[in-house]
Amino acid sequence: MEKLWVVDFGSQYSLLIVRRARELGVYAELLPWNRLPTQLPSEVKGIIFSGSYASVSEGPPLPVEWIGQRPVLAICYSAQWLAAHGGGSVAESHSREYGPAKLELTNGSPLWSGVSSPTRVWMSHSDTITALPEGARSLGRTESIPHAAYEIPSQKVYAVQFHPEVAHTEEGGTILRNFLYEICGFTGEWRPEAEIDSIIQALRAQMPAGQAIGALSGGIDSTVAALLVYRAIGERFHGIFVDTGLLREGEAEAVLQAYEAVGLPVKRVRAQLPFLSALRGVTDPEVKRKTIGRLFIEIFEAEARQLEDVRYLVQGTIYPDVVESGTGVSATIKSHHNVGGLPERLALQLVEPLRLFFKDEVRALGWKLGLPERFLRRHPFPGPGLAVRVLGEVTAERLERLRRADAIFLQVLEESGWYDKTWQAFAVLLPQRSVGVAGDQRRYGETIALRAVSSTDGMTAEPTPLPSEVLFEAARRILAEVPDIGRVVYDLSTKPPATIEWE
Ligand code: XMP
Repeated sequence: MEKLWVVDFGSQYSLLIVRRARELGVYAELLPWNRLPTQLPSEVKGIIFSGSYASVSEGPPLPVEWIGQRPVLAICYSAQWLAAHGGGSVAESHSREYGPAKLELTNGSPLWSGVSSPTRVWMSHSDTITALPEGARSLGRTESIPHAAYEIPSQKVYAVQFHPEVAHTEEGGTILRNFLYEICGFTGEWRPEAEIDSIIQALRAQMPAGQAIGALSGGIDSTVAALLVYRAIGERFHGIFVDTGLLREGEAEAVLQAYEAVGLPVKRVRAQLPFLSALRGVTDPEVKRKTIGRLFIEIFEAEARQLEDVRYLVQGTIYPDVVESGTGVSATIKSHHNVGGLPERLALQLVEPLRLFFKDEVRALGWKLGLPERFLRRHPFPGPGLAVRVLGEVTAERLERLRRADAIFLQVLEESGWYDKTWQAFAVLLPQRSVGVAGDQRRYGETIALRAVSSTDGMTAEPTPLPSEVLFEAARRILAEVPDIGRVVYDLSTKPPATIEWE
């Protein structure tokens, strides 16, 4: 299969380049700059070098031996590095150029096919190219920089100091498409759903004998991973759904119905009581999360031990998780998953069929595998469930209170058409009581905070500007229908500095 390699020099946008290429129909992979193979496989038809947090004087080196072998697009730091090491020069600028700029195209190039001049681009760098490398011609300038882009036609090197991969670069998609199609000659055949047969073949080869287990959470990733494995090895796969009692109203049933609809055999383990008693008296958020994680593993492990010859653990790890914990180039490291530590304890081999896919691609796979539309459009939901949305102690009564309020909020969003326009929406129960009146009675109820955010990946988020009539309707119904709620408020915090969940 033809591939694009994206070499990561530590820019916050590196993974976005991979994503954009895949959206344009080209299969792309991210490779950390410090672990590059020496040979370029023939299936690699083009290379993009990413930007970096570093400056050219101290940053990582580019694999110059690859230059001339395949078409290259160098972005930002890489464009500067190639200039500085190819006979040109780069000056350190004192102020970082960050934000939108007007790019004027000064020379024709296949990179600019269909791009208007001027065009708005997104800059984020501190160095600037002051002299071009040998054999290069300048392709564009902005008000503050003379060589915002250049090409070295004899080597098929294209370089831009702006970021075509971010949405703020207006014609970034056209520029990337030009590089991939006109310059590298990709055919653009990549479609995630076309991979299903080869994924299933590979899973069969990976799991020739023995049993496999997987924890299903009701989320899209674990479900699609399980479905793929089930299609590959049939009854040798055992899906386990631990019902923690921390799910939303009607959710356990809805999830089990979706499994049934696609013929996925899943065992429901009813564990509401053990979770409630483990959480009794616990109010510290971290202790809550740890308590839930530990109990989950114990229960899952006990289920696994009832089966014979279990050799594999199926997980719904997706590409951003792999990259975040795997490349070591960027700063963030995320610990996951619900069953962390289990493979070692049970001596199981991990099977992660979605390691190479993005969330939207997993949705496409799920759709092709026949998962219901309703299931695929569900908002993300945290592993520890409603426990991190019931602030203070988690009790059966408080869970029920939150569940009702949450269901009302989601119903109002569905009815007003806002559910699909929101990335994630939910209610939070606060232990804060306040004074109110109901009829002639004084009442002293708890508080519900409504949270609705817009986001693309959950890393950053903004409060969704819900129309006031939607918010008023949700508040009116919650106050009228949920006992012991005295007040409803709307959370206006962005992430950062706030997180999406309250705990
Ligand atoms: P935060 O609260 O960190 O949440 O801004 C970002 C996104 O991650 C979800 N989230 C979790 N998902 N296990 C999960 O599987 C967890 O422990 C967890 N904590 C938060 C959250 O719902 C949001 O979508």
